[in-house]
Amino acid sequence: MALPAQVKIVEVGPRDGLQNEVAVPTAAKIALVEALAAAGLSYIETGAFVSPKWVPQMADSDAVFAGINRQSGVTYAALAPNLKGFDAAVAAGADEVAIFAAASEAFSQKNINCSIAESFARFAPVIEAARARNMRIRGYVSCVLGCPYQGDVAISQVAEVAAHLAAMGCYEISLGDTIGVGTPLQAQRMLAAVAEQVPMQQLALHFHNTYGQALANIAACLPMGVSTIDSAVAGLGGCPYAKGASGNVATEDVLYLLHGMGIATGVDLSAVVNAGAAICNYLEHGPRSNVALAELAKRNP
Ligand code: HMG
Ligand code: MG
Repeated sequence: MALPAQVKIVEVGPRDGLQNEVAVPTAAKIALVEALAAAGLSYIETGAFVSPKWVPQMADSDAVFAGINRQSGVTYAALAPNLKGFDAAVAAGADEVAIFAAASEAFSQKNINCSIAESFARFAPVIEAARARNMRIRGYVSCVLGCPYQGDVAISQVAEVAAHLAAMGCYEISLGDTIGVGTPLQAQRMLAAVAEQVPMQQLALHFHNTYGQALANIAACLPMGVSTIDSAVAGLGGCPYAKGASGNVATEDVLYLLHGMGIATGVDLSAVVNAGAAICNYLEHGPRSNVALAELAKRNP
């Protein structure tokens, strides 16, 4: 199959990235979201409405939503694990909400303190409430290429959870390699199995880069027709419930790959590099993106 002509980037840095970094001032988060929107990113996961005891870094998400100067055409989304989180996201002004399930029972228990089946029961009223407001719901499946607690995860289980979320009403299913362990053929097989149950246009890739394979996995999956990629500016973050997992694949690296393959994104790479460098001033490390480092070095030879 041919490569997609265009790919939608779902920028998850302000949520997935910053949920697993040292606490960053609210004003810096607001500036980051605004810089990402100005760079042309049209979908930004801006915060999470989860228990502040579990993830204190996201406790100011309502203030972030309140503080941003919104750009038209940009979707500012939030993560929510239950109705309480959904209500808070709506009150804060989130345009869309994402719920998150896992393909591994062990990860589901550690991450959201319930079984996979129980998580579906929690999501049902969220989807119902969203429908009543004409709001779209995105769904995540974690551990699609491996679990930090149980190891291997059956591809059939990934497809089943993805299909369940789609049947419940999620318009898009994002497939998370939470701990960044997958390799290209495994990623292709997983995507093919899920695409038998959920149309490819409804699928997104959400690959963390722990083992440095995310870009290779994305490149292997693009010819299969997938056209939505999640990434985090500067490769920020990880997952607080997946010890040792590093951040998402860097947005800068994905943009360079896509543009080099002739695939349009509508995003200005240079502006994303600037946004990543700015937020890293608040962190204990620089950008975790080869492309960002190369671009910054070129500017200051
Ligand atoms: P629980 O303790 O089982 O929940 O946690 P509970 O219903 O028994 O409530 C316990 C307390 O939490 C109560 O407060 C509730 O009010 C409060 P208390 O009475 O003790 O003061 N609570 C909430 N507070 C704020 N917002 C809420 C909320 N819900 C209950 N929405 C719960 C269950 C799901 C809440 C908890 O386990 C949790 O918040 N987990 C979030 C974990 C998380 O954020 N993980 C990271 C995001 S997922 C991820 O990164 C993976 C992803 O990127 C994809 C991938 O890479 O694979 C998406
Ligand atoms: Mg993630």
